[in-house]
Amino acid sequence: MTVSDTQFIAAWRTVLAGCNLKAGEQVTLLTSTDTNPQSLRCATVAASELGGIITTVELPPMNGEVSLSRDKLAYVGATALRGNKAAMAALKSSDLIIDLMLLLFSPEQGEILESGSRMLLAVEPPEVLLRMIPTEDDRRRVLAATDRLKRARTMTATSRAGTDFTCALGDYPILTEYGLADLPGRWDHWPSGFLATWSNEGSASGRIVIDRGDIILPFKSYVQDAVELVFRDGYLREINGGFDAEFLREYMESFDDPEVYALSHIGWGLQPRAKWTAMGLYDREATIGMDARAFYGNFLFSTGPNTEAGGTRDTPCHMDIPLRNCSVYLDGEPMVIDGKVIPPDQRAD
Ligand SMILES: [Fe+2]
Repeated sequence: MTVSDTQFIAAWRTVLAGCNLKAGEQVTLLTSTDTNPQSLRCATVAASELGGIITTVELPPMNGEVSLSRDKLAYVGATALRGNKAAMAALKSSDLIIDLMLLLFSPEQGEILESGSRMLLAVEPPEVLLRMIPTEDDRRRVLAATDRLKRARTMTATSRAGTDFTCALGDYPILTEYGLADLPGRWDHWPSGFLATWSNEGSASGRIVIDRGDIILPFKSYVQDAVELVFRDGYLREINGGFDAEFLREYMESFDDPEVYALSHIGWGLQPRAKWTAMGLYDREATIGMDARAFYGNFLFSTGPNTEAGGTRDTPCHMDIPLRNCSVYLDGEPMVIDGKVIPPDQRAD
């Protein structure tokens, strides 16, 4: 479904105003050869209307020869900012960066944010962005969940499909995504509406069962037969099951890096306008799968890098795996039961 420039510019205006864009601020649009031209056009108009001083930095494509997919989340860590002093200088002197390229997981992103620039990633198709314009309610609920997660020392996940998993928390920061880069040094992603953290090193243990219908990213497939993952000492040690297990095992092995098996971020989805079904209606390369990452009541875990959290695990393979119908507990207190969000201050219904 296409959207009109008029509608899309208005959406960008709402989001940029929500990012506290003020007249006279330096706004840099970060683009690459595959940036959505309507996003670039409409973001530029909206930022100009709000009085931003606009610069566009276009960087060359990267990792084409090593990645097995055109999805930029299929090979992370190294970006075209590496060694690019001119682009880094422009980005570090920006008040607000609109990332239409996908810089996530690079050490350069951390350096830019430390300089105080705020950064909003937006690479999903225009109609997906339009459906999930961040709201004050999204922000309130995600922040309420963040307050609870900050105090947690253990996370447990269970499901009728057989998940029985636990990890210790507290050593890493919280990833709070409500879709607005509204504070200095803040990174966010439009569309989103979820939160996560990273487990303490070596603590992840137990079994996660990816059930029929659950999603594996970046494959962008709905699993057809259950996959059993066994975690011990913080790492994924066994991948058991049929075809889907074999596919996942072989893909992860292809990176030839033991760090791909570490547990990465772990959390739950709070976005009611993100839909479990949406990904099934798209060509695989038309989206990065934010509906899957954010849908309301999911249990989302991932494997691979922790550089986003200030850690040193820099590995290019990052699997995001959102599950339905799970229960998630913090220190025994339910956040989600059978896919239903429980705490009143996190609920959207
Ligand atoms: Fe992720």
